[in-house]
Amino acid sequence: MINEYEIKKEICDIGKRIYNRGMVASNDGNISVKIGDHEFLCTPTGVSKGFMTPEYICKVDENGNVLQANKGFKPSSEIKMHMRVYKERPDVNSVVHAHPMYATAFAIAGIPLTQPIMPEAVIALGCVPIAEYGTPSTEEIPNAVSKYLQHFDAVLLENHGALTYGDSLLNAYHKMESVEFYAQLLFLSKQLGGPKELSRSQVERLYEIRRKFGMKGKHPADICLNAKDGKPNCHSGGRCGACASASSAEGDLVAEITKKVMKELGL
Ligand code: 13P
Repeated sequence: MINEYEIKKEICDIGKRIYNRGMVASNDGNISVKIGDHEFLCTPTGVSKGFMTPEYICKVDENGNVLQANKGFKPSSEIKMHMRVYKERPDVNSVVHAHPMYATAFAIAGIPLTQPIMPEAVIALGCVPIAEYGTPSTEEIPNAVSKYLQHFDAVLLENHGALTYGDSLLNAYHKMESVEFYAQLLFLSKQLGGPKELSRSQVERLYEIRRKFGMKGKHPADICLNAKDGKPNCHSGGRCGACASASSAEGDLVAEITKKVMKELGL
């Protein structure tokens, strides 16, 4: 039995962490949690996510329509983006959006996080692509993010911020921390003369570890055909189908087929 109040408290706790770690400024960022097929809890729009109490949290249906909200509170303006993730990723139970300093700087510079610089980032995230710019609150961001959802659990939003999701609120939040840590390390190592990247075989061994441990979520290692047969992939300077830019026909095709299969299976 889901204790809604406990989940609301957890959302407030994560809001505090995001705010206190400087991953959002002012009233930025938003968080949601799936509590049923047609019910989701989400942060309200236009408040500091670092100072919320459970009464702030709104409940919406899968289309973002309000099911319950206390007086003075309306669901996040980015609720459509969250709902698109839940719709296309039935394994996801929580979505976090923030503007962490370094990751957002990469999103503004148009540089995806594709360099293999440390084992943890390679295992946990693989590459982090950039979804093309969209106007906040419109369908543009959900549409831009959609093509990456079947391959990644973390996406940069061009000129905007970062989006992470997972099977629990804590895991979605941890992914945001990992993205920011990776971006920070990449930035700093660039100042120190450029990172010394892991070799292709070192990356392949890390991908293998991830497969062996059966880690949950989506990761380029699971679908990157280039990575499997040793051809250039996003972690070896090449741009594999899954990890390439929005124009990648192969990546689009894989996403389309995956979506169709999931639909056939009723997922
Ligand atoms: P909300 O307060 O409406 O959730 O918006 C914050 C934000 O970061 C928009 O990108």
